[in-house]
Amino acid sequence: MSFVTTREIMEKAQQGGYAVGAFNVENMEMVQAVLAAAEAEHAPVILQTTPGTLKYAGPACFAGVVSRLAERACVPAALHLDHGNSYELAEMCRREGYTSLMIDGSKLPFEENIAITRRVVDMAGDIPVEAELGTVGGKEDGMEARPQYTDPEEAAQFVERTGISSFAVAIGTAHGVYKGEPKLDLDRLSAVRERVSVPLVLHGTSGVPEEQVRACISRGICKVNYATDLRIAFTAAVRKVLAEQPEAYDPKKYLAAGRSAVENRVRELIRLLGSSGKA
Ligand code: 13P
Repeated sequence: MSFVTTREIMEKAQQGGYAVGAFNVENMEMVQAVLAAAEAEHAPVILQTTPGTLKYAGPACFAGVVSRLAERACVPAALHLDHGNSYELAEMCRREGYTSLMIDGSKLPFEENIAITRRVVDMAGDIPVEAELGTVGGKEDGMEARPQYTDPEEAAQFVERTGISSFAVAIGTAHGVYKGEPKLDLDRLSAVRERVSVPLVLHGTSGVPEEQVRACISRGICKVNYATDLRIAFTAAVRKVLAEQPEAYDPKKYLAAGRSAVENRVRELIRLLGSSGKA
């Protein structure tokens, strides 16, 4: 159908009471897998890349592949910079054709987070910007963070003063693999929802039990991020092929197995989020 911004996808999700999956992609095969899954489920979808992934391949590579494939897909798809760690990277992604940007100043003091976010919003123009207040814990791109929960009053001020299009909450999720079962502060999520009108985003969702994901969606989350889950699915499938066929040397053989595993997993997640059939 089209290569779109996250604004249109997320506003519809907010009105419809479901969430759109935002899936971290690391290579061409994962891009193909996520788009194929979204098409099979007739679901709108967001593909996203972290700064670490962009260090590996560069925004031109992902913007090129995603935009060409998304234009031909039968569902709306957006390409988002996940956890943008500098103004310069956000600007580069915008120039290369990303249709959504995150600037993550969540580890900065409140006023500094507002200042960098406001700068990126001004630079982005009609491209929507996501930002975070409070800190999602765990490990992302090799950086470890201690969780710090979002304060609902500060959230309202932050959204108003920055002019962002969507807001990432810190309510107890963490990036990477959980050691125990995560305990999410759902009342805090509702308190943020009451004070903030832009779409809300959940980070660190791999490993969060399904009923907790559904509870977050019913309390206003409309973009749900998955990275670790897909990396594990891709790698396990590649490992299996290489273990069973140690003589294999054609990358197409084992990468196709990774691609197919990611497609199956993304289809399951799209159904969990309630965005199946919403394209
Ligand atoms: P997980 O790796 O826990 O799925 O987190 C993904 C994420 O929030 C990307 O921003």
